[in-house]
Amino acid sequence: MEPTPWIIGNWKMKGSWAHAQHFAEGLQAFLSQSQSLSLKIGVCPPFSFLAAFKSSIDRKFLLGGQDCAPFTQGAYTGDVGAEMLQDMGCTFVLVGHSERRQHHKEDAPCLQEKLARGVEAGLKVVLCVGETQKQREEGQQTQTVSQQLQEALQGLKNPDSLLIAYEPLWSIGTHQTPSPEAVQQMAHCIQQTFQKLFPHTAQTVPVLYGGSVTAENVQTFLKISGISGVLVGGASVDLKTFLPLIEACGFV
Ligand code: PGA
Repeated sequence: MEPTPWIIGNWKMKGSWAHAQHFAEGLQAFLSQSQSLSLKIGVCPPFSFLAAFKSSIDRKFLLGGQDCAPFTQGAYTGDVGAEMLQDMGCTFVLVGHSERRQHHKEDAPCLQEKLARGVEAGLKVVLCVGETQKQREEGQQTQTVSQQLQEALQGLKNPDSLLIAYEPLWSIGTHQTPSPEAVQQMAHCIQQTFQKLFPHTAQTVPVLYGGSVTAENVQTFLKISGISGVLVGGASVDLKTFLPLIEACGFV
């Protein structure tokens, strides 16, 4: 049987409280109409709007954090811990998004700690990796991604809660996407690296694709062998684009 694909929306630093409430109600109503939803839909709003999503008990979608602190509770002004996300109803967290790596200088030791905190809190952790335009032009994409995985996953004891999002940086927010063959090659590279890092793990790691995913192209990515879902930025913030994207997956 085909595994249930993941559709994860990452709002980044967008939206408002009113928008979040409207979105949560609209998404819930839309998904409630479906008798047999065979998609795992996740939404990652900014921390400050998580509460707008918390209320409904029979929520048909998952809630996630865009990031978590590398620390457990303590004197870390401005940080939000993985256990706090869990407390707010989150079941997963993104770690190592390229915007965090770029703007917050997140390095391998930091990512290792964040992964550990996420797993300890009982969350699924979506580790984001991907090459720059220059690295792809130089043919360095597999080496780059493999190295990112080796660095971030060093010390991770149990990979059961792990998902990997392959997000080429040159595709994020640009309307440019890699060919299906290129995505398949990267999914294969990720799986190979994962097997090397965790030789005693029988299962494979779910690999998502992210970068300029829309209602128009989502089917193409979901059909790629080795791809278990998508991570959606821009098209996930508004119901006008997110609902058609969910419908386009054809699993609703
Ligand atoms: P995008 O963003 O869909 O707007 O390209 C993807 C992401 O950054 O996760």
